[in-house]
Amino acid sequence: MSGIASGKTPGAAYSHGAIGFHWLTAAIVLTIIPLGVAMGRVDPGPTQDWLYSLHESLGIVVWPIALLRLMYRFKNPPPPMQDDIPQLMKLAAELTHWALYAGLLVNPILGWLGVSTFGATINFFWLFELPSIAAKDEALSKLILWAHGWIGILMALALCAHIGGALFHHFVRKDRTMLRMLGR
Ligand code: HEM
Ligand code: HEM
Repeated sequence: MSGIASGKTPGAAYSHGAIGFHWLTAAIVLTIIPLGVAMGRVDPGPTQDWLYSLHESLGIVVWPIALLRLMYRFKNPPPPMQDDIPQLMKLAAELTHWALYAGLLVNPILGWLGVSTFGATINFFWLFELPSIAAKDEALSKLILWAHGWIGILMALALCAHIGGALFHHFVRKDRTMLRMLGR
C-alpha cells in the first residue's frame, strides 16, 4: 500500500537547494575517495602528483560546500522521513548522515594540516599553490595523515551503508526515500 493510500505522511521531497547540494557533494566525494586510495598505491611520478593534486583540490573545494550546505539545512530543515519507517531505521539513517557531515567538515582540514606539517603545499587545480597552514613536523604529519586516511575509509564504509540503504528503500521497501532526494 502506498503512503498516500494508507493515509500516512507520504514523505515530501527535499527542496531543490538540498538536492543540488546533495548530488554536488556526492559527485565530488565519490571521486575523492577512490583518488585517495589510488594515489598512495601508484609509483611516485607525474601520475601520482596529478592524483594528489586532484584529490587535494577537490577536498579543499568540498569543505566550503559542506559548510554552506549545513547553513542552508539550518534555515531549510529537511522534510520529515516517511512515517511508516521503523524508528531504529530512521535513527541509523540520521546517525549515518551526521557521521558523513562530520567527515566532510573534519577531513579536509586534517588533509591540509597533514600536507602542511609534511612540508608540502597544495597545487590547487594546477592554478596556484595554497599556502602551508602549519609548521613542518614530519612525525605530526604522519599521525595526522594516518587519521585522515582512516576517517576517509570510515566515510567510505558509511557510504556503503548509506547508498545500500537508499537502494534498499527504493527496491525492497519501495518507499519514497530515494524519490524525495530526486525531487519527486
Ligand atoms: C549514489 C550515491 C548516493 C545516493 C543514492 C544517496 C541517496 C540519498 C538519499 C535517498 C537521501 C535522503 C535520505 C532521507 O530521505 O532521509 C540522502 C541523504 C543524504 N546523503 Fe546521500 N546519497 C548518495 C551519496 C552521498 C554522498 C557521497 C554523501 C556525502 C559524503 C551523502 C550524504 C548525504 C547526507 C549528509 C544526507 C542527509 C541529508 C539531510 O537530510 O541533511 N550522500 N542520500
Ligand atoms: C572530504 C574530503 C576528503 C576525503 C573523504 C579524503 C579521503 C582520503 C582517503 C580515503 C585517503 C586514502 C586512505 C588510504 O588509502 O588508506 C586519503 C589520503 C590522503 N589525503 Fe585525503 N580526503 C579528503 C580531503 C583531502 C584534502 C583536502 C587533502 C589535502 C589538502 C588530502 C590529502 C590527503 C593525503 C596527503 C593523503 C595520503 C595520506 C598518506 O599518504 O597516507 N585529502 N584521503
